[in-house]
Amino acid sequence: MGTSSVPEGRAHVRVLCVVGLLLLSSSLCFSSPVGRKTENFGKNWQFTLGDVTGGQRQDLDDSQWRRLDLPHDWSIEGTFSDKNPATPGGGALPGGIGWYRKTFTKPETDKARRTFVEFDGVYKNSTVWINGHLLGLRPYGYSSFEYELTPYLHFGKEKNVLAVRVDNSQQPNSRYYSGSGIYRNVWLTTTENIRVDHWGTFITTPRVSKQEATVAVRIWIRNTSGQTQPIRLTTRVIDGAGREVAKGEAAAVVPNNSVGLVDETLKVRNPALWSLEHPNLYRAVTYVRSHGKTTDTFATTFGIRTFAFDAEKGFSLNGKPVKIRGVCEHHDLGCLGAAVNIRALERQIEILKAVGVNALRTSHNPPAPELLDLCDKMGIIVMDEAFDMWKKAKKTFDYSLDWDEWHRRDLADLVVRDRNHPSVFLWSIGNEVQEQYDHTDSSGTVIAKELASIVRDLDPSRPITSACNDADPMNPIIRSGALDVIGENYNISGYPLFPTTYPGKKFIATETTSALATRGHYDMPSDSIRRWPSRWDLPLLDGNPDNTCSSYDNCSVPWGSTHEETWKIIKKYDFLSGLFIWTGFDYLGEPTPYGWPSRSSYFGLVDLAGFPKDAYYLYQSEWTDTPVLHVFPHWNWKPGQTIDVWAYTNCEEVELFLNGTSLGVKKKTADDLHLQWRLTFAPGTLKAVGRSGGKDVLVREVKTAGAPARILLGADRTRISANGEDLSYVSVKVLDAHGTLVPNADNLIRFSISGVGRIAGVDNGLQSSSESFRATEHKAFNGLCLAVIRSTEKAGKTTLTATADGLPPASVVIESR
Ligand code: GAL
Repeated sequence: MGTSSVPEGRAHVRVLCVVGLLLLSSSLCFSSPVGRKTENFGKNWQFTLGDVTGGQRQDLDDSQWRRLDLPHDWSIEGTFSDKNPATPGGGALPGGIGWYRKTFTKPETDKARRTFVEFDGVYKNSTVWINGHLLGLRPYGYSSFEYELTPYLHFGKEKNVLAVRVDNSQQPNSRYYSGSGIYRNVWLTTTENIRVDHWGTFITTPRVSKQEATVAVRIWIRNTSGQTQPIRLTTRVIDGAGREVAKGEAAAVVPNNSVGLVDETLKVRNPALWSLEHPNLYRAVTYVRSHGKTTDTFATTFGIRTFAFDAEKGFSLNGKPVKIRGVCEHHDLGCLGAAVNIRALERQIEILKAVGVNALRTSHNPPAPELLDLCDKMGIIVMDEAFDMWKKAKKTFDYSLDWDEWHRRDLADLVVRDRNHPSVFLWSIGNEVQEQYDHTDSSGTVIAKELASIVRDLDPSRPITSACNDADPMNPIIRSGALDVIGENYNISGYPLFPTTYPGKKFIATETTSALATRGHYDMPSDSIRRWPSRWDLPLLDGNPDNTCSSYDNCSVPWGSTHEETWKIIKKYDFLSGLFIWTGFDYLGEPTPYGWPSRSSYFGLVDLAGFPKDAYYLYQSEWTDTPVLHVFPHWNWKPGQTIDVWAYTNCEEVELFLNGTSLGVKKKTADDLHLQWRLTFAPGTLKAVGRSGGKDVLVREVKTAGAPARILLGADRTRISANGEDLSYVSVKVLDAHGTLVPNADNLIRFSISGVGRIAGVDNGLQSSSESFRATEHKAFNGLCLAVIRSTEKAGKTTLTATADGLPPASVVIESR
């Protein structure tokens, strides 16, 4: 039914074609379109890098341009270089100017209808034309926006050309990797003249009990029919099993060329609440009728839940106390760059959820709509953040240049677009904005009040915060009184004092930690903490020559803290509602503490390729009931070297053995987040036995590895969908003859592929690598490498083979259906 190619839940728009009150098949719909049709408009665009005079002209010959499908990020295809003006802070990849053009036809039957194009995000400074007619400009690269095409369209056989110029040439304009181009999805929507307006519903649940939830549905109806119209609305609430659980009717009269607001209040009996464990969703399907004809059908996904921040008890969801165990995430997807991909996002969330992460912060900009859809479905709460800067700049060409003209619009669009997502629980109006620091300058107070009032007008149902790294009550943003929840970045020593510093106020640690680690690298002694005195753009005098950071959780930036230091404080006090660790995954850009050749960050619990670092298991032992015994480091050292062995565990005690000899039992206490043994290295086998209640629960062995002998491939999914978007992440392990991972292996892995799939990217998680992500070979790093396979629209098998000099080839088969 319907003609939708829109993923379920996307932008709360589900497409149904309607004639009268009958739902028709898609073929009939196509020949006689009535109602709403939304299609993904990403296929078959022409692209060229560089500026083009008259690139918007309809008659321009673009046949020599490159043909591609959106979403597309041209920066990730480039070469890493410290000469790129983005600098290592922006990922050391090229920016520039690019043009995109799409040629399409519209049937005659759409002539009396309305056609819109919607961009989920274009980085940045997009200018859009249809058939040579300028539709508009949009500077902010993270905003979603729509243009109406109707008056300038040709119908029938005559062709239309949609042209987009993207200008990311003025750099640096970001403190982290942005990507360049139409890196999010594009949608083409065709409607009747009486329709639900763009982002035209807002659903809240003002009263929720076990027995009943009140569902308040606001619907904005636009009438461009040429005359005043009487309108009837029916909204049906559908539960997860497809049953109708509530129904509302309303009527209105909407004058021509105006928008009518209609409110419906519905009751859902025995509501299935949206929670972290059971993210139950409902759909409100609104049927718009005028003169007996259904002109639009519009579905909004929503959830029924309550939540609250409390100055003493912290955060609660549906009345149950929940510690917010969040991570900050930037939007890039590692070797795939910024081009949005649902499976890549879903994999990130799966990896994070496995250690008990229950919250994401969309640092420091509006996210892709698909991320929020996934959080709705997967039970993750989201702090949705608007800006990394206000009027005062952080980078020469950043958004501060567009602030005056655009901030109201960009903020309002974010709230209106995202306010139906049950996952969104907190709006952030900014991150560490420069207006905080000068306590004599009140411009930050004025802006904070203005932004908060924009948000409150559009969504009174959620609290507002701002991520402040100046924790002083005289900080003009905090002082403004505009924040519902005080958001603090870093400054953990002040957290225990929060109730005295801010009596009666609510708290969230909007950003913490900034610990640094390179996967599989260890600097001893493990208990000596290095606070690297530097940011990536300042000289670092005592860094490691190979630009590594130690993974013992003994390394952080000076404004941050180690994982253990941070979590010990957050977990101790109920009034600390929770934290957002900087960061879940490593991201492109900001390679603090190193500069070039480093070009990606060291902050993640998980490296850029998606391989967990050791601290990942600290959280798993603290945040989940999964039995955890993670023992490190590797066991390839110089004989006689003093080595610290750590274990993250939730067993009551652990006994360690080296080559069969016990090195003693260590017991977990409430204060110990890890157990530690200091020993003299001898090659062989380190064995750890985790016990609880007097029983052996888990056994882990770490063995000294010999020389590389073979490759082991492991796909996260061997069956993927033949939709041209789905991904299989294939990890490559370099093993010795006994199957032990060779912890320092850096063999060059060459990939070859046959069958229907394609290699979308390769990586190894090493922050200082200058190898391309768009290649068929990549070096392993500390024994691991990654190839990402992408499906095409052909069903069938894909065989990925990996070889390395002196090692036998290994293969894995992935099936696309
Ligand atoms: C914070 C900032 C983040 C990131 C982090 C690195 O101050 O908000 O964007 O730069 O520092 O430690």
